[in-house]
Amino acid sequence: MRILVLGSTGQLGQEFKYYAEKYSTTLPRNWDWFWMDKNSFNLLNLDQLKSNLENFSFDVLINCAAYTAVDLAQSSPEKEICMKINFHAPEIMAMICKKKQSRFIHFSTDYVFDGTNKGKPYQESDITSPLNHYGTSKLLGEKAIQNIDGNYDIFRTSWIYGSFGKNFAKTITCKILQKELLQIVTDQTGTPTWSFKIVESIIHLLQGQNLNEESHLFHLSQLGNANWYDFGCAIYKLICKRIPNQEEIFPILSAQLNQPAKRPECVILDKTKWITYSGLNLQDWNYCLETHFHEQGFI
Ligand SMILES: NC(=O)c1ccc[n+]([C@@H]2O[C@H](COP(=O)([O-])OP(=O)(O)OC[C@H]3O[C@@H](n4cnc5c(N)ncnc54)[C@H](OP(=O)(O)O)[C@@H]3O)[C@@H](O)[C@H]2O)c1
Repeated sequence: MRILVLGSTGQLGQEFKYYAEKYSTTLPRNWDWFWMDKNSFNLLNLDQLKSNLENFSFDVLINCAAYTAVDLAQSSPEKEICMKINFHAPEIMAMICKKKQSRFIHFSTDYVFDGTNKGKPYQESDITSPLNHYGTSKLLGEKAIQNIDGNYDIFRTSWIYGSFGKNFAKTITCKILQKELLQIVTDQTGTPTWSFKIVESIIHLLQGQNLNEESHLFHLSQLGNANWYDFGCAIYKLICKRIPNQEEIFPILSAQLNQPAKRPECVILDKTKWITYSGLNLQDWNYCLETHFHEQGFI
């Protein structure tokens, strides 16, 4: 099986590569991985993307490439760039996958929701209503893939962190080690999700799935929920072995950050569909954070 991964230099892309190398002896022998980055497959050139994909032989396309600069995406010309990468490019990918009868694995976001569900977990079928341009572009990407109606799996996930790329956990860890005062928002709730666990889920899917079977939209994150302040305090507790005081991490409200993009107040993804389909046990976000920190040698 030939697996083509786009966005191989991002958080999730690098995690896939790490996993494929680390577990190369236990993964099926007939799996061949192909790693593409922005230099080889630039999603901004849609004609070139189309011909590159047409000329490449693959059974599964995993799209880890995305425009993820949520605040920048609010202004021109970034808005248009974001739309190309998150909407038009995945549309082309889905078209070529359908033509080749290949499986398309794509990632979307909790930011397709507006976060007004009063803490009730969102199901895949719940009404979407993004609050910012990034969320809108990702939602349009999902819809385009669904309209093309090939063989796909779309995974909506949230608050990714891990060993690779830039993420909240890494930034906070550095600041804690440098003894910087931190100010973190308390009025945005979601679920931190370890990139390694996302990759594990996709590998599980590929091992069990017939590539022609029906398509799915799944929610996939860890269990439980937290606001960014809780997430920051959990990191602090792991590193410093005690709860931070307010001189170390100060709670603030989103309005104080003056961010260009509005974020949803509370999005908890309901993972029942994925758990039932996959038979996997998802773990609590705190447990995964601790495991990740152990593996990194931080604690
Ligand atoms: N990060 C999160 O918290 C989060 C939450 C929910 C959902 N998601 C979704 O999960 C997926 C993976 O996210 P991530 O955190 O791994 O993102 P990421 O670290 O920002 O990586 C994005 C990747 O896309 C590539 N890329 C950007 N512009 C490109 C272009 N014009 N052509 C080709 N490649 C391009 C980047 O390449 P360069 O590095 O060379 O720019 C990078 O490899 C995305 O679909 C994202 O929307 C992420």
